[in-house]
Amino acid sequence: MQNFEFHNPTKIVFGSGTIPRLAELVPPDARVLVVYGGGSAEKNGTLAEVRSALGDRDVQEFGGVEPNPTYETLMQAVEQVRREQRDFLLAVGGGSVIDGTKFIVAAIHYPGDPWEILLTNGQHITQALPFGSVLTLPATGSEMNNGSVITRRATQTKLAFMHPQVFPQFSILDPTKTYSLPPQQIANGVVDAFVHITEQYLTYPVGGLVQDRFAEGLLQTLIEIGPQALANPENAEVRANLMWVATLALNGLIGAGVPQDWATHMIGHELTAAYHIDHARTLAIVLPALLRVQRDDKRAKLLQYAARVWQINDGDENQRIETAIHRTAQFFESLGIPTHLAAYGLGQPAIDLLMAQLEAHGMTALGERANITPAVSRRILEAAL
Ligand code: NZQ
Ligand code: ZN
Repeated sequence: MQNFEFHNPTKIVFGSGTIPRLAELVPPDARVLVVYGGGSAEKNGTLAEVRSALGDRDVQEFGGVEPNPTYETLMQAVEQVRREQRDFLLAVGGGSVIDGTKFIVAAIHYPGDPWEILLTNGQHITQALPFGSVLTLPATGSEMNNGSVITRRATQTKLAFMHPQVFPQFSILDPTKTYSLPPQQIANGVVDAFVHITEQYLTYPVGGLVQDRFAEGLLQTLIEIGPQALANPENAEVRANLMWVATLALNGLIGAGVPQDWATHMIGHELTAAYHIDHARTLAIVLPALLRVQRDDKRAKLLQYAARVWQINDGDENQRIETAIHRTAQFFESLGIPTHLAAYGLGQPAIDLLMAQLEAHGMTALGERANITPAVSRRILEAAL
């Protein structure tokens, strides 16, 4: 196992009816800014519960954070925080609202142009305002990690940053708040969490026995409950499990002490920036193709994945690997998520554009061995046609 440090300071408050706990979790004298998205939290009653729990605190709101949150919109919130002297932020929504809130809290005291936070992976952040979250969409793990992905609309650039100061202080996870999600967002959540796990598991073996078993357990849980979450939208137990799996998929636990890939995400971000395809759908396009192109580098873990996650034990090594990749793609398709570029109306011209974007953003040595050069990324995209 590789050396590691692991520290996750986010308190999780989990379960139905837990939003009133905000009354104790948010400091009583806080000058709060509630950040939310396009209206789903208003419609399903989450915001009403939040307002009621915050009681007579000094509360303002900032709505309109879009899916794939933009620098342009978030800078308006930064201005509001400065002008109105807000000192505590509360994100109410999915990964986009939480990621956007992480950017706002880091931008407030940032010396210089806050876009640099994205260009430098957050390395010059010195302080951030405290914030918490109320999660309404199980998918990204943003509720219990220190990552954030922001898009600059003007240049169609989607970049990530990480910093220890942008862990939420707390996150409230009430699975009943996911009942109002449309089926395609549930499917997206299952696929995003699935790929977060494979990014930390399908690399090469380093003897991380617990990390491997945890990852395999989380993958098997998603395979089991993904279809159930779509078929029975108001099954509390299924939604609770989906929410907790998605959080555990990317809270640092399974990735501690093991190599990590993330090439699927980096290539996927370019697809979202250029063609506005939902984040999880970009992953469903890239992952099967990437596993095929990188099969020799990933051989040992792919065989382990085939045997332990899909119970594939027949055939020679190459057949077992191909069957496991095929089953993975089939799983995504069974949730209603297409796995080829063509299904999104994209062909060879898109690949040329995506390659230019990858190179412009310095994505030229991706993967756990940093050997996914532009030539390899091109092969991956061509395998995804
Ligand atoms: O904007 P509203 O009206 O709230 O509607 C949202 C949005 O349209 C809706 N929604 C959310 N909760 C709902 C609901 N609709 C009905 N009922 C509810 N309970 O769902 C739509 C999508 O929301 P969004 O927050 O964009 O989805 P998601 O949670 O999948 O977040 C995606 C973003 O997270 C980033 C992605 O790149 C993307 O920008 N990621 C963040 C990561 C992290 N911080 O660690 C890791 C991920 O890999 C990912 O890159
Ligand atoms: Zn993701």
